[in-house]
Amino acid sequence: MDHNGNYKNEFGWFADKPKVPKKLFNFKAVFIGVVIFVVLVTSPLWKNLGQIIPGPDPQLNTAAIMKLPEKDRTCVESKEYMRANHMLLLGEWRDEVVRDANRDYVNSKGKKYLASLSNNCMECHSNKSQFCDQCHNYVAVVPNCWGCHWEKEKEKKQVAQSEAK
Ligand code: HEC
Ligand code: HEC
Ligand code: HEC
Repeated sequence: MDHNGNYKNEFGWFADKPKVPKKLFNFKAVFIGVVIFVVLVTSPLWKNLGQIIPGPDPQLNTAAIMKLPEKDRTCVESKEYMRANHMLLLGEWRDEVVRDANRDYVNSKGKKYLASLSNNCMECHSNKSQFCDQCHNYVAVVPNCWGCHWEKEKEKKQVAQSEAK
């Protein structure tokens, strides 16, 4: 017997399923709604479209660094180490100084340094805005050290301002 598309359940054979037309109701309103939704959801991406954000360009040409003989023109540790670990090293220095009253740092080559942010790092890297800030602005980290630890640039500005008064 050809049931011709009819279907069967436990009550027996039934006629064709009713044909419900596949219709999208209010097509216009739905379409406009979907477009508005997509535009709103992706709007944060539109703002940056086509913009190229320049990479950081930390400058190493401070007077203190240029004064060093070429072969000793290094950081307290290797450049690669400093790039990856300077924030940890600073924390280590702070703990040594504040907890153990130890202001000596002996680096991996046996050379001794004063463990101090302002009196060592910032002596060589006295160009904070051209060095530290270059990278930090790029990755949006804001170390909160400068409320307590001075940096030369700020002091110079303050001196210039008070002289101008
Ligand atoms: C004696 C001077 C001197 C001192 C002190 C010093 N630096 Fe440096 N620093 C340099 C020099 C020179 C370089 C570049 C090294 C190279 O090119 O091999 C450098 C490189 C770096 C770099 C890597 C920069 C880059 O372009 O990748 C970081 C980060 C850095 N220093 C942070 C610090 C911090 C933080 C301190 C204190 C803990 C510090 N430095 C202390 C001279 C110094
Ligand atoms: C080569 C790029 C670069 C340079 C130059 C650089 N930093 Fe950083 N610094 C970073 C990055 C990237 C982070 C964030 C690391 C993270 O979040 O794990 C950071 C984090 C830090 C932090 C920890 C911040 C926090 O809130 O945890 C301190 C402190 C810091 N830097 C100090 C300095 C000082 C002082 C200098 C200049 C003497 C300097 N940095 C130069 C790239 C740099
Ligand atoms: C609330 C104030 C305050 C803030 C903020 C602060 N420090 Fe300090 N820090 C101190 C004091 C006070 C000392 C002890 C100074 C001393 O004995 O020479 C110190 C000592 C240190 C030392 C060792 C001594 C020296 O001369 O540098 C390091 C390194 C240091 N802090 C790093 C940091 C870093 C990195 C940050 C930011 C992530 C930071 N500190 C934020 C107050 C502060």
